[in-house]
Amino acid sequence: MCGIVGYIGPKQATDVVVKGLSALEYRGYDSVGVALIDQNQTGQVIKQAGRVENLKPLVKQQAGKSQLAIGHTRWATHGLPNSVNAHPHSNNAKDIFVVHNGIIENYQEIKDRLTEHGYKFYSDTDTEVIPNLIDYYTARSKTFLAGLKAALNDLRGAFAIAVITTREPTTLFAARFSSPLVIGVGNNEYVLASDPNAIMAHTKDVVFLEDNDLAVINQTSLKIIDFSRSMPKKPKLELLDYDQEQAALGHFPNFMLKEIYEAPQTIRAATRGRVLADQGIIKLGGLESVNKQLNHIDRIVIVACGTSYYAGLVGEYLIEELANIPVEVQLASEFKYRKEPFSRATILLAISQSGETADTIAALEKAKDFGCLRLGVVNAIGSTIARLTDAGVYTHAGAERAVASTKAFIAQVTVLTLIALHLSKGENKDYRKLLNELSLLPQKAAAVLEQAPEIKRITIKYMDKQDFFFIGRGYNYPCALEGALKLKEISYIHAEGYAAGEMKHGPLALIDKDFPTLALATDSNELAKTISNIEEIKTRNGPLIIMASAGNKKVASLTDDLIYLPKTMEQTQPILSAIALQLFAYYIAEAKQLDIDHPRNLAKSVTVE
Ligand code: AGP
Repeated sequence: MCGIVGYIGPKQATDVVVKGLSALEYRGYDSVGVALIDQNQTGQVIKQAGRVENLKPLVKQQAGKSQLAIGHTRWATHGLPNSVNAHPHSNNAKDIFVVHNGIIENYQEIKDRLTEHGYKFYSDTDTEVIPNLIDYYTARSKTFLAGLKAALNDLRGAFAIAVITTREPTTLFAARFSSPLVIGVGNNEYVLASDPNAIMAHTKDVVFLEDNDLAVINQTSLKIIDFSRSMPKKPKLELLDYDQEQAALGHFPNFMLKEIYEAPQTIRAATRGRVLADQGIIKLGGLESVNKQLNHIDRIVIVACGTSYYAGLVGEYLIEELANIPVEVQLASEFKYRKEPFSRATILLAISQSGETADTIAALEKAKDFGCLRLGVVNAIGSTIARLTDAGVYTHAGAERAVASTKAFIAQVTVLTLIALHLSKGENKDYRKLLNELSLLPQKAAAVLEQAPEIKRITIKYMDKQDFFFIGRGYNYPCALEGALKLKEISYIHAEGYAAGEMKHGPLALIDKDFPTLALATDSNELAKTISNIEEIKTRNGPLIIMASAGNKKVASLTDDLIYLPKTMEQTQPILSAIALQLFAYYIAEAKQLDIDHPRNLAKSVTVE
């Protein structure tokens, strides 16, 4: 997932763009660059492999005075992360400059066609075809805009692009097709970005571009055209609800730890105005428009990726138990290819923190023809997935910057609990008790966070291990999967999540003194069986870390590495277990002195399939 920033206005454009790129670096960070049109209407490109920090001094030294610039942080999809493949890319005449987020699926066909017309290509990227295609069409059109529209209509795949050219030295162009772009509307200035994080320092008034939108931006005007139909569109001004402070790091060493510690307020934010415990009701405004249809559903299919997929698995247990509705959770990347029968009474529920995950978007696009209701559980306001669904429930976790998702998982599971209770219509025996437990959860989450020093003490013993099992039963099984993902993605240690009952069907063969297992053994109907699984591991000298409910003395004889969690209901256990698992993974990665917010090879939002 790449980051795009553009600026047009009275300030030094490259200052604004570079600052914006720093705010987006969590999205992708193997190369970076800026392009500008200076006061002499000359174009300039400064780009290289590496982080924004390394680019800053170069831009300071080399950039001319400019009020129009674009920039890009890259997470490579085509071509190595180096200065040739870094964006911006330009046409052969070096008077058109483009930054791009997404994938041009027909780039090879375009490249071949342009090569026949004498164009040359120097990078391995798909993006480089865009400025040359614009050049090709503008040479055959009356105006630059006409040529740009023709080029955009020739592209296939997902793209968000920003374009500047010396031929139109006072105009910033931007276009989107299934990859996010948002325009911050300031006072005689506009800031364009692929994510509101780069805009909120300037303004909260924004326009979210939609598919087929082409924005033509001058210092005092913003016009939008549907480039597929060459029709003008009225820009829809909205208010960003992210708050600058939220995204600030504060006293934390990195965003991941900050976001783990936000768990109590995350639970509050996800339930605020939605859990009216004294009246015994759940109020989900985002579902009101579809409540009638929700009374006649035969099944729910949840689609998501990564951590959101594991939240979906918790949602499966919750909705089936509380609302007695069959649920199936599918990886979005697999859902696309399945040939499954899909009734109109089935709901498709997409879960996504960023709202921009290409696999999940593709799943929603596929379901468009099923005629079924499409709901979303999304964090990023106004994101593509939020706009693609018929209705949904925002998780209100605020900006999540660390690549490893933490508070978003907490918020997703909290919202899924609310949805399950809503669908139960209050008819479940645990309904009232759960409403009450939800109101106690923030302080129980705080109690887990108070265990951080103990979790850290236990964790660092295991920092050099090469392999890990995470096991659990029932609601703890999806938690085990998520715990394994957290450890994998920030410590680079191989970790597998398993249903505890599966160990004797094969995985037990791997257990020895160097293969530790973290067992989730909190109070539940399955606790006794989980303890048997733990004993099977212990008798084979497998090192054990056990997370149990406060007061459970039985487990004390099984290991010295015990983490006690506050007692809670089975249905709300995943929220508390997840916090402890996040801290577990965090402290191992911290002990290994890894780049916790930017794990190698990963990006915050995967907008390519
Ligand atoms: C989770 O820690 C990862 N960053 C990744 O698995 C992520 O959950 C997945 O890419 C889905 O992202 P989304 O929730 O934004 O759709």
